Amino acid sequence: MDEQEQLTTAHGAPIADNQNSLTAGPRGPLLMQDYQLLEKMATFNRERVPERVVHAKGSGAFGTFTVTNDVTAYTKASIFGAVGKQTPVLLRFSTVAGEHGAADAERDVRGFAVKFYTDEGNWDLVGNNTPVFFVRDPYKFSDFIHTQKRDPKTNMRSPQAMWDFWSLSPESLHQVTILFSDRGLPISYRFVHGFGSHTYSFINAQGERFWIKFHFRCQQGIKNWTNAEAAEVVGVDRESSQRDLFDAIERGEYPSWKLCVQVMPEADAETYHLNPFDLTKVWPHADYPLIEVGTMELNRNPENYFAEIEQAAFEPSNIVPGIGFSPDKMLQARIMSYADAHRYRIGVNYAALPVNKPHSPVNTYHRDGQMRFDGNGGGSVNYEPNSFGGPVQNERYAEPALKISGDADRYNHRDGNDDYTQPGNLFRLMNADQQQQLFNNIAAAMQGVPEFIQLRQIGHFLKADPAYGRGVAAALGLDISSLEA
Ligand code: HEM
Repeated sequence: MDEQEQLTTAHGAPIADNQNSLTAGPRGPLLMQDYQLLEKMATFNRERVPERVVHAKGSGAFGTFTVTNDVTAYTKASIFGAVGKQTPVLLRFSTVAGEHGAADAERDVRGFAVKFYTDEGNWDLVGNNTPVFFVRDPYKFSDFIHTQKRDPKTNMRSPQAMWDFWSLSPESLHQVTILFSDRGLPISYRFVHGFGSHTYSFINAQGERFWIKFHFRCQQGIKNWTNAEAAEVVGVDRESSQRDLFDAIERGEYPSWKLCVQVMPEADAETYHLNPFDLTKVWPHADYPLIEVGTMELNRNPENYFAEIEQAAFEPSNIVPGIGFSPDKMLQARIMSYADAHRYRIGVNYAALPVNKPHSPVNTYHRDGQMRFDGNGGGSVNYEPNSFGGPVQNERYAEPALKISGDADRYNHRDGNDDYTQPGNLFRLMNADQQQQLFNNIAAAMQGVPEFIQLRQIGHFLKADPAYGRGVAAALGLDISSLEA
């Protein structure tokens, strides 16, 4: 017995009895002075932190990123400094709409959030398994998410809200087509590609800027369930993706992804035939081919899910020298949103938690705040400029100036945007079987939706490709002659 560690209170006092509460006589009542019981109950009552407002259900693992190709012509980022260089990573996968206890095998976008612990600070690439998104103006993000969450009255998911919003937002068509395709229901996180989705930038040692799209190419192959297969899976296992990822890593079957980039010279953005900062569009590979950068392997499960995955805080604002943002309005909004969410969800000192703490030095003048659990800077100087050797800026990290022009205004984000060609191209790439699955998946998801909304949405499908609209209409048993007239 003496070889095992002594059980203590949170304050280190030895506990003599962890089985029986302190009572007046064997039948009770309890005594208020049982501070050990009070501490145990009070701590338990506070075990949950708020779940993420989106992407609440997730799984994560640690691993290694290794550079396999020299991209120093495009970026001075230290992480890409030499072929063979390795950087530790954390990857959290997730579904978007479901709560923390939701089933994994749901038709939904998969989150693909990577934290690279580089030697010049943390770089977070907080992406999805799709290259595009449902909206292109961040003003519409929370509206869109409301349609994916529970209805305020019924407390159930609402296909009516989803299709009402999508049919009134043609920019969603590209992502809707991906979501309801045969690739919309991955069998597990190991079998998805990852995308940074937004356009980011690289800056090289000469101070030249390039626009960049990040792609993680899955090395396990892409595998998806049909709706029927997924329904069976959910019936027996709500944690199918968590189980698959965790067990594979325990078995030593380490999943890996090849990181590639599309590179657009800065000046091309002015003349390229589509807005390269529009999150609803892809850049065709024929225009900007994939360039290999490195390999990311996941090889270690977290030891403690709450400490290492639930408390993990990913934020698109985490960039490092040599990697920058772009004017994409959605990305710009996300730069604010995530750190704000973390301050609320985990607390203002979330960056000092072990899983979020950079593996490189952190020297700030931030002090105090709730749950300041490190040394709080000790006795060091807490203002700048100062005469006492505190940390200072270094202009060698400055980004080259970005030319911006235009009158400040609320520009209609739908003006002049072609929302139909790329979804139509995607539809035309599908074989007949994949097209039929798309029709069936959409028809299934539209059950119970008022006909005027179904018809409005079919109007968009018809514009992408007449066969797309007709196929969905047939699957729904709808007469669309008035739409086609
Ligand atoms: C999670 C906001 C668009 C991918 C979140 C969270 C917020 C948020 C508040 C919860 C963060 C937390 O509590 O830890 C937004 C806003 C968006 C937006 C305001 C648009 C204006 C996107 C896009 C992508 C994306 C376009 C992918 C390309 C993710 C992922 C997570 C997430 C993967 C989960 C991160 C994790 O694993 O912890 N988002 N989001 N979001 N978002 Fe977004």
